[in-house]
Amino acid sequence: MTGQNAGIIGMGHSYPEGILTNADLEKMVETNDEWITTRTGIKQRHKAADNEYTSQFGTRAALQALERAGLEPTDIDIILCATTTPDQIMPSTGALIQAQIGATNAAGMDVFAACSGFLYGLTMVESMIRTGQIRYALVIGAEVLTKYVDYTDRGTCVIFGDGAGAAVIGPVPEGKGILSTKIKSDGRYEEQLYAPGGGTKLGTSHQTIDDRQHFFKMKGNELFKVAVRSMADISAEMVKKAGYTVDDIDIVIPHQANQRITDAVAARLGVPDEKVYSNIAEMGNTSSASIPIAIDECIQSGRIKEGTLALLTAFGGGVTWGGTVIRF
Ligand code: UT7
Repeated sequence: MTGQNAGIIGMGHSYPEGILTNADLEKMVETNDEWITTRTGIKQRHKAADNEYTSQFGTRAALQALERAGLEPTDIDIILCATTTPDQIMPSTGALIQAQIGATNAAGMDVFAACSGFLYGLTMVESMIRTGQIRYALVIGAEVLTKYVDYTDRGTCVIFGDGAGAAVIGPVPEGKGILSTKIKSDGRYEEQLYAPGGGTKLGTSHQTIDDRQHFFKMKGNELFKVAVRSMADISAEMVKKAGYTVDDIDIVIPHQANQRITDAVAARLGVPDEKVYSNIAEMGNTSSASIPIAIDECIQSGRIKEGTLALLTAFGGGVTWGGTVIRF
């Protein structure tokens, strides 16, 4: 690829202190720790309090990422906040975070691509930096999913948790940064994961509230199969496009949807388990936040160092998916 390479130059993450354990869920729906652990790998998830909301976590993650990048908020040209659980319908959570961090030179907006949103954001700013249109971007994945989860539906409520991760993206030397990236969607699968109420199609009414239409609805096992195939295929394609083989990849950071999905993607790609990062036991599925939180944890623990070749892959409602190969 010609032009300026773009890469991650600072990361941060944040999540609510509140924790919802499998034992807590046992008191809410007919489920048990053994089922949740064996079917999802999840032991606990973080849950925002009633007075906590998405932009707060996005802001904390963004400020930490800026500090680690050694940049000021005013250095940022664009803020893309990937979220499916915005503070409110308008203005965008990206604009709210812009105000909260004081990024007065930036444009702030949201990326609405469910669990793939962080990779959507990375892909968009990569080309903006490559072409010289901007210098520094903040890509944030921030979610308070627990406020959209129906705690009477055991098929969805056990997997989702809250949190945010942020990346400062900027110019990096040739051979480093994002080496290949691709995003895709297929809206024909709309009803596999959706929240039907509250938009212009099914506006909020007493009836939609009574019918619980504003909560997420998910056909989990159907989504499962499409997720594995889509993530494995786009990953293989992006590794090849970057000029590598799967054996060259040092670490795979998949969207933390379900441990069984992660295991199946790794098996399909032929990547040994020790190269695949998972924090799902402690974090649950945090949608667009899961990949940036995981990257930051890997940097902080030393699992990602200068020179590490990483494969990122995501899949989510829409359906949407993506793959990115990045050299740190
Ligand atoms: O983040 C990106 C988008 N989301 C995903 O990628 C999620 C993908 N899907 C999944 O993670 C899994 O499909 C779930 C964890 C949501 C469900 O696991 P599953 O193994 O696909 O279960 P299932 O829906 O096929 O249900 C199997 C059985 C059913 O009972 P019967 O009909 O066999 O008697 C369910 O009613 O398990 C039952 N079940 C539960 N039992 C105890 C479903 N949820 C629960 C539960 N506790 N929480």
